[in-house]
This record gives sequence, C-alpha cells and structure tokens, in this order.
Amino acid sequence: MCGIVGAIAQRPVAAILLEGLRRLEYRGYDSAGLAVLDESGRLDRRRELGKVARLAEAVAASPLPGTLGIAHTRWATHGEPATHNAHPHVSHDRCMLVHNGIIENHEELRREQLAAGYVFTSETDTEVVVHAIHAELDRGQSLIEAVRAATGRLRGAYALGVIDAADPEHLVAAREGSPLVIGVGFGEHFIASDVFALLPVTNRFIFLEEGDLAELTRDQVRIWDRAGQRVERPIKTSTVAAEATERGPYRHYMQKEIFEQPRAIADTLEGRLTGERVLPETFGNQASELFQGIRNVTIVACGTSFHAALVARYWMEAVAGLPCQVEVASEYRYRRHVVPEHALFVTISQSGETADTLAALRQAKASGYAATLAICNVPESSLVRESDLVFLTHAGPEIGVASTKAFTTQLVALLLLTIALGRFHRLDATTEARLVALLRALPGKIEDVLRLDETIAALAERFIDKQHALFLGRGEQYPIAMEGALKLKEISYIHAEAYAAGELKHGPLALIDEQMPVVAVAPNNALLEKLKSNLEEVRARGGQLVVFADFQVPLEEGEGVTVVRLPETDDLIDPLIFTIPLQLLAYHVAVLKGTDVDQPRNLAKSVTVE
Ligand code: G6P
Repeated sequence: MCGIVGAIAQRPVAAILLEGLRRLEYRGYDSAGLAVLDESGRLDRRRELGKVARLAEAVAASPLPGTLGIAHTRWATHGEPATHNAHPHVSHDRCMLVHNGIIENHEELRREQLAAGYVFTSETDTEVVVHAIHAELDRGQSLIEAVRAATGRLRGAYALGVIDAADPEHLVAAREGSPLVIGVGFGEHFIASDVFALLPVTNRFIFLEEGDLAELTRDQVRIWDRAGQRVERPIKTSTVAAEATERGPYRHYMQKEIFEQPRAIADTLEGRLTGERVLPETFGNQASELFQGIRNVTIVACGTSFHAALVARYWMEAVAGLPCQVEVASEYRYRRHVVPEHALFVTISQSGETADTLAALRQAKASGYAATLAICNVPESSLVRESDLVFLTHAGPEIGVASTKAFTTQLVALLLLTIALGRFHRLDATTEARLVALLRALPGKIEDVLRLDETIAALAERFIDKQHALFLGRGEQYPIAMEGALKLKEISYIHAEAYAAGELKHGPLALIDEQMPVVAVAPNNALLEKLKSNLEEVRARGGQLVVFADFQVPLEEGEGVTVVRLPETDDLIDPLIFTIPLQLLAYHVAVLKGTDVDQPRNLAKSVTVE
C-alpha cells in the first residue's frame, strides 16, 4: 500500500527519495510522486501514473535540486489511479504532504473547506489534510503546531510527512494507525514507511508509536506523544543489510524467495531447538508458565497468513489436543464473539502492519484472552510491539507481493507452537522428538522438492490458455490447496478456487470439462483413498488432472492424469513440502503469461488500510 519517504539533509535529496520509493515498490502502488523545496523557497513537484521508473525519468528530464523533500507511492483508495490524485498534495503552493492511510471524516472536512474557499484538485481523502494544515499555518502557527492542530480533527488512519515552503528547516511527521519510521543520519534525518526504504542511507531507526508527532531538523529529532508530552524514543540499529533486499541473480523476487526457503526455515529454527526438544524460551521467557494454563487457541490473520492458521488448526487439535478456532481478521474484528476461557489469541502476519489483523489484536486485548502472541516476520512492527508474546520468523525481507517464504516459516512457527502447547496436553516426548527430527531435516527436504523446478516449469505451459483452475486437498492439505489457488490467481490472473475434495460433488463437479485443470495435493496419508475416489470423479468427466503425490502413492499416469512425484516425508510436515510445487507452478504460469510477478495488478504487499 502507499509508501512514504522524506528527507531533510545537507545534500540534494531527490535521488535518496527516488531510491526509497524504488525500495517501497513491493508494497504495491499505482502512481508515484516527489516534491522538494528548492533554495529559493519554491516547492517543486513531479507526479506520474505508473511505475517509479517513470517518475525517475521525469526527475532526470527536469531535475529537482533541494535538500528537503517528501515522496510517495500511492495505492488508490479514494479517487482513481491518476496523476491528479497522486501525492504529494499541495495547498496554496505553501504546504505539501504525503499520506498513507484513510481519513474517514474527509467528506465533512471537505464541505467545511469548500465553504472556506479552498479549491480541490483531487478526489482523494488526503487533500483535506493538507488544506487543514494550511489553514493553521495561515493563522500563524508553526508547522509542528499546525500539524498537531489539524491532525486533532482527523478520524481514521494516517502516516504523514509534511513540509512548509516558508520553513526550510523542518520536516514534520505524524503516525496514527499507519506505519512510519525515522531514519537517523549524521546531519540529516529521514522518514519512511519501513526500514527497507532507508537502508542505503542509514541503519539507525526510531520507530514511532501510535499518536506520535515528530519534528525533524538536520541535526535533531523531537517527538511528542498523543498527550502532547515530549518523549524520547530509543534509536535502534537494524541488522538487515541493504543487499538483503536486492534481487541478486534471480529473475524475480518471488523466485528468489521460493528458493530461499531452505535457508529461511533453517534461520527460523536456529536457537529454538535443543536435542530432541523445542526450547522452552522459544516463545519468550514467560511463555512456558503461561502455556501451562492454556486450554484453547484462537488464531486470526489475513491472506496467506490465514492459510497458515488453517493448517495450524489441524495440528493444534490433532497433535496438541487443544481446541482451535481460526478466522480472517476482517471478519473477526466486526463480529461479536465469545472468548473461550484460558484462551491464547494468536495473530499471524508477515508484515505486522496489516490493518485488520492489528485491529483484531487490539480488540482481543480488550476482551479477556489469557495472552496474545504474534507470529511475525518484521521486528519492531506494530503487531510485535503490541503483543504479549512474540515469535519472529527469520525469513528475511519478503519483497514479492505473493507471500512464499513467509508462509513456510509461519508454518514452522506454528508447528513449534503446537509442540510448546501440546506438551501440557496430548503431546508426548516421543512425538516431540519425532517432530523435532522432522523439522531439522526440513530444509534438506525442501531443497529436494525445489529440484522439481524444471518439471513444473514444463507443466506450467498447460495452464497459460486456461481461464479457471480447481485445486483439491483433504485434511491439512485443504488449506495448502487454498494457498496454491491463491498463488495462481494473484500472479497469473487465472481464476482459481480451492475445494476440500469431499465437497466436489456438492457443486464444483458441475464445472469439470476438458478446459478445467484440476490440481490435487495427494500425500500418502489416511485420506488418500478418499481423495483418489474424488480424482476418479474428475477423470470420468474429462477433467485434466495434475496430481502432486509422494512416491508411495499408488497412482498411475494416464490419459488426462499427470502425476508429479515428491519425496516421501511424514504426515506432520507434508503441508510444508506440498506448498513448494504449488508456489513454483503459480510462478512459472505467471512468467509464461508475462504478468508483473512481483507486483501483480491491484494488489499490495502490506495492507495497512481496511
Ligand atoms: C496482502 C499480501 C499477502 C499477505 C496478506 C496478509 O494481501 O499481498 O501476500 O498474505 O496481505 O499480510 P500479512 O503481512 O499480515 O501477512
């Protein structure tokens, strides 16, 4: 979603801002813009529909000198993707602003401002904010006071970067409901939606809290909390190397991230296992004591992270013996629900900034859960900071919009959680030892599956002229089928649906003909015979079957049936193994179709608004 970068420095900032925007491209956007204050006190701006590269061309053609500036990638919410709706927005050539979030009372403010003579040049909810700040500046307020007064009237979510043409010494930032960090340099300071944007210029960051207002000069950062009190926020050093966000020799980030999975899983396991056991401190020092009393688990997430939660439900109930409810965050947050006794509330999120997941967490905290746990890939994200317990997946930065390594590392985290909780319930030491051995062997197994890359690339050709695809699975492979369908639709734009194979006769069988590829996930488990009957039903109606099965599965290739063999593993970690070929399939279909694999149309990596 929208990305913000800002800089106040002693050197020209346009190149820094553009590089920051390039590094935020992964969040998803449809237009980009940049503004700087030049030496003569004139605000100059460039805005372009489409890619940051176009904006960079516009800046190259007509350079923007200046040492104070703000920049933005916009993911349209209010008003179509168009140059006039792109940020920065300006009021009376004096005040300029970039915004991430949604202003809920923008209509009311717009009416007031129209009556006061303000002219609107966009359909965005953002423009009311810049006019509101301008009105305060006009009353003689300083920039920081103007932003404080104006934001006091806003309802909704925002991260803001603001500059005033009459004040070349300040960049003001505000955070309420949307992420924003401050980059600390020497004689220069920056703001951005995440640390990745600023890694080329600094590795020292201040993570703003909700409700914070910050005033940046070249030499100083001053912060006030929601109550208007001056506060000191710690400076943290990021260990993410700037190169971690580079694509390297891979054609796409998604491809890189698929192939990074053995390493990401090994990193996620590091320091969490000891001998045949999961270390008790894996979920934090107080976790063991707390877990003893847990009788129930609720897991809430969005998108791919929700699919990880669905797999965990099978593990929690079958392996740990704990009742487990799973729900998408956007539903959970608006539903009246009964909080089970002694329940652990778990959120899963790659980014830790997904608006619905955060809102669900805040609601859960207020409603009597025994504790909250975040499984997250981004340290210092809002979700991490607001949860009682935290498990960080060490997948490294995930840039491709379609989540891959974040998903498999989330599954690893959930398996560890199943063990950590299960110990106090159904799980015995032998099963724990078996699981730990499987986890230790997992990176190697995934390496083996990745060797299927060429086979799957060849298979992908069969999908490129298709409009639809059906994915089938049973048991814990049902959520994996859902994840496979999601991957395919996200990046290849082929309509793909997943069904629990047992539901086939209750509707989707009507869709089956020669034009409908059916992808089935078929490990050698207790449900195999049932699944085979479902596959026969598809075959009898001319459906084109692609079956991912392990070597033990007695399935013959034949007319309309292709079987891709995976190394044999164990029921308990099969979901992780069978995810990989589905990721590869989606990836290769998208490459063959020539879509924008890493930044699929209309989608955002980090959904920071509802
Ligand atoms: C977006 C992304 C997905 C992601 C989902 C949840 O839709 O495109 O890849 O699974 O958000 O994001 P989170 O960061 O909370 O896991």
